[in-house]
Parts: sequence; structure tokens; C-alpha cells
Amino acid sequence: MRVYLDNAATTPLDPEVIKEMYKVMETNFGNPSSIHSHGREARALIEKARKTIANLLHTSPAEIFFTSSGTEADNTAIRCGIIDHNITHAITTRLEHHAVLHTFEALEKAGTIKLSFVNTDNKGNVDYAHLEELLQNNERSFVSLMHANNEIGTLTDIERVGELCEQYNAIFHCDTVQTMGHYAHDLSKLKVNFLVCAAHKLHGPKGVGFLHVNHKLKIKPLIYGGSQERNMRGGTENVYGIVGMAKALEMAYADMQQHQAHIQELKSYMMAQLKASIQGIAFNGETDPAKSLYTVLNVSFPEMEMADMLLFSLDIAGISASGGSACSSGTDIGSHVLTAIGANPNRPAVRFSFSKYNTKEEIDYAVSKVKEICLVNA
Ligand SMILES: Cc1ncc(COP(=O)(O)O)c(C=O)c1O
Repeated sequence: MRVYLDNAATTPLDPEVIKEMYKVMETNFGNPSSIHSHGREARALIEKARKTIANLLHTSPAEIFFTSSGTEADNTAIRCGIIDHNITHAITTRLEHHAVLHTFEALEKAGTIKLSFVNTDNKGNVDYAHLEELLQNNERSFVSLMHANNEIGTLTDIERVGELCEQYNAIFHCDTVQTMGHYAHDLSKLKVNFLVCAAHKLHGPKGVGFLHVNHKLKIKPLIYGGSQERNMRGGTENVYGIVGMAKALEMAYADMQQHQAHIQELKSYMMAQLKASIQGIAFNGETDPAKSLYTVLNVSFPEMEMADMLLFSLDIAGISASGGSACSSGTDIGSHVLTAIGANPNRPAVRFSFSKYNTKEEIDYAVSKVKEICLVNA
């Protein structure tokens, strides 16, 4: 049996998405910037996709800019939001994805910004009072807080962060890569300047994403070139990728509640089964379903011999998951997220992440293999 439980890393393409993309690959090869009919057909597909995405998110197509990835969208928001608006202070957490953290670190190193980290607790929850303190005590800030953590699944109350940012005239960038298509984002209500999507996390293609830029805060491009994306992002558009992303998001929204219920059930079931069968098992991050992304379960295993072999043993058993414990003192190897929440570096951690395609049988198989591996290495 082969079981894929690494959906936070990437997801399999939905067959309906493949069908849509295949049609475009086969027939719409024109360059969307060309003015002849082949070009116009490709352009029309891009604009239709933009409209579909904008409608789902309750925003206007003029606020959606296609990118090559979530990473590019994060880089664009942070670099351009800070540089174009002469921001000198940024606020984030130590738990963000490297697409965010490394971008801030480069700006800090260049002397462009001072960087402050909001306190987080041992489950990865943001300290909102500390965030307010940082906003109060600094000049206009650029705030970047992710909606759900990709390693431990802890959710941030982004409505609350949006309100705070508005109150203190701060710019708010939210990395929604792990929640896009899993929760309904309503951009007519959410007070956010920048919001990010990577299509491959929601059964869409790799190498395509988008950045939502609220009309209230204009930025200049990160990538200069042709006049694509209304002069905001040079480079010939990934037409079939964009069409596939819109289809994937449309499908995610159509069946969101049903998928949420199914996946949450799998996650709760796996937690219960692991707790019942392995002594000393625990979970990293929030376990309250209201505060935790339903697709992610980070399991903290008891200390064991051959801990490094855990993922390898799972792989041999046909189970794909990912992991990495907290960094032990003096080393840089390991998870910066688990280190930031103070997880014990001697306890191996494995992230299991689920999708609509996973089944209870797969979870039973994974739990039985985990049990076997733990017994052998105890
Ligand atoms: C929270 C988060 N942000 C950004 C990214 C980067 O997205 P991409 O793989 O499209 O560059 C990821 C991907 O793992 C992610 O989980």
C-alpha cells in the first residue's frame, strides 16, 4: 500500500484540473500579449480565471496578480510593500515560512528595516497584546503573520490582526498559502493589504500562484519586464497554470464544507488511534480544532533509538510524510518552527497532512505501521 500524507508539501492534481489544463495546452498556445486571435484567446482565458478567483474571494479582478509561486507572491508583498512605502519597521513571528522570514532577514541585513518578533506561546499562538504593544511603540509598521502554520497547523485570528493593523495604520500581509481553498476568505470584509496563494497546495498545478493587492495600497513591480499583469509583473504568463489554479479554487470552494468535515474526521481519528496505541505520544501545535488547520497533524514521538530513521522507515512502509525535530542547541539543522515553540529536540516529530483523497483505511494502515516502527525502536 502507498499512502500520501504530505499534502501540506504539495497535493495531487485534481483530474478535473488536468482536463482543463490539457485543453489549454492543446489548443491555446498563443502568447497572451499578442494582438492576433491566438493571443487574444489566451488573454481571454487568463482574464476569465482572474474573474473566477476574484468572485470566489469577494474582491475585484484588478486586485489579483498572477505569480510563479507562493514564494514570489510573499517576496513581492514584503519587498515592495516595505520599499515603496518607506517602511522602516516590520513585525512577524519566528514561525513564518522561509519565503517570509528570509525576505525580512535580507531587508534587515541591508539596513532597510528593523525587525520585531511577536511573542508566540508553546503551541504557536500569537500574543495579540504584544502585537498591539509593538504596533503602538513603533512608527508605521509592516506586519506579516501567516494564517495557518505549515508545520504545526496553528491558526492565527487574522480578522483580529486586520482590525489591529487598521487601528495603527499598519500594512498587513497574510501568508494564506496553507488555508487558501480550505477556508472561505472574504476579502470584502477581511482587513488585509496582501494575501497569497500557491495553486499546488489545493490540487492545482505547481509553479503558479497569485498575490491579492488591496486597491488602497499600490506597489511597484518586483519583476520588471514586459507589460504583463497590468505592468505589475513582467514575464509571459503561465496560461495553463493560471487556468488550472482557477479551476482548482473553484472546486475547492464548491465542496469546501464536505471536504472539511471529511478531513477533520480523519485527523481526529488519527489522533485518537495514535494516543490509544503509543504510550507517550503528543502533538505539536494547537489541538483545539477551532484553532488548528484541519489538514495538518504534527506528531511528537517519545524519545527512541534510531529517531532519524522514523521518516525513512515510514517511507519504506509506503507512507509519505515529512518531519524534522526542533534544533538541538548549537545546531542549525531541524525545524525552526518547532525550535521557536520550545519543542524537545530529542522527541522526533512527523507532520502528517491530509487531503480530500485520503481515506480511513489509509489512516488505519499508517497508524499500524507507526505502531510497528515505535515498537521496534523503543
Ligand atoms: C506557508 C507557506 N508559505 C509559502 C510557501 C511557498 O509556496 P511555493 O511552494 O508556491 O513557493 C509554502 C509552501 O510550502 C507555505 O507552506
